[in-house]
Amino acid sequence: MLIHLKQVLTADELAQARALLQANDAPWIAGAASAGGQARHVKNNQQLAQNSSTAATLRALVLAAIQRDPLYLSAALPKKIFNPLFNRYSGATNAYGAHVDNAILNSRATGERVRSDISCTLFFSDPAEYDGGELHIHDPYAAQNIKLPAGDAILYPGTRVHDVRPVTRGVRLASFFWIESMVRADEQRQLLFDLDMTLLALRRRHGESDEAMHLAGTYHNLLRMWGAT
Ligand code: NI
Repeated sequence: MLIHLKQVLTADELAQARALLQANDAPWIAGAASAGGQARHVKNNQQLAQNSSTAATLRALVLAAIQRDPLYLSAALPKKIFNPLFNRYSGATNAYGAHVDNAILNSRATGERVRSDISCTLFFSDPAEYDGGELHIHDPYAAQNIKLPAGDAILYPGTRVHDVRPVTRGVRLASFFWIESMVRADEQRQLLFDLDMTLLALRRRHGESDEAMHLAGTYHNLLRMWGAT
């Protein structure tokens, strides 16, 4: 399931984040340093040093923004987030070849382990600012090329092969992170999300009813059956 989250960041937050990422002293380092296994060989971008104060400020900003988005909460049913990271694609460091993300991530900061059920990319650059740079999510039947407005984000299953196409003009700034969901299986999360969205629409159209209450019960019983806290 791919979910487009619109305007995750307010205009103020976006401006603040861009100013930090574009500052002359922003601590960019080679992205390959943080990639695991196979991904290291195809990762050719830059990443903000995780232990910098810039990264700490941006992490807090992104976490606060994403966690107030109701669509994110319904689609991801989040249990844990692996700390947001920040990358830059431009010039000679401009692409990330096809790879799979590690299933289990170890947070250096907390020592905590997070299973990467869902991947998220949050865009800080507008599509008009750069050429290329699409997040390409592989699928034999319906491959997706994702390039969203600044402030928007995409959620996609952690199971998918993906790459970032070469940026041939301008700069692409983004944050990426992983979510361990209370519901591990993508298809179960999708069913719960569809049910939740349908319930919302039903209540909007007809108000509260016995039937909506019973359907809400079914939602929660499925979540109880499939979810783990
Ligand atoms: Ni990746």
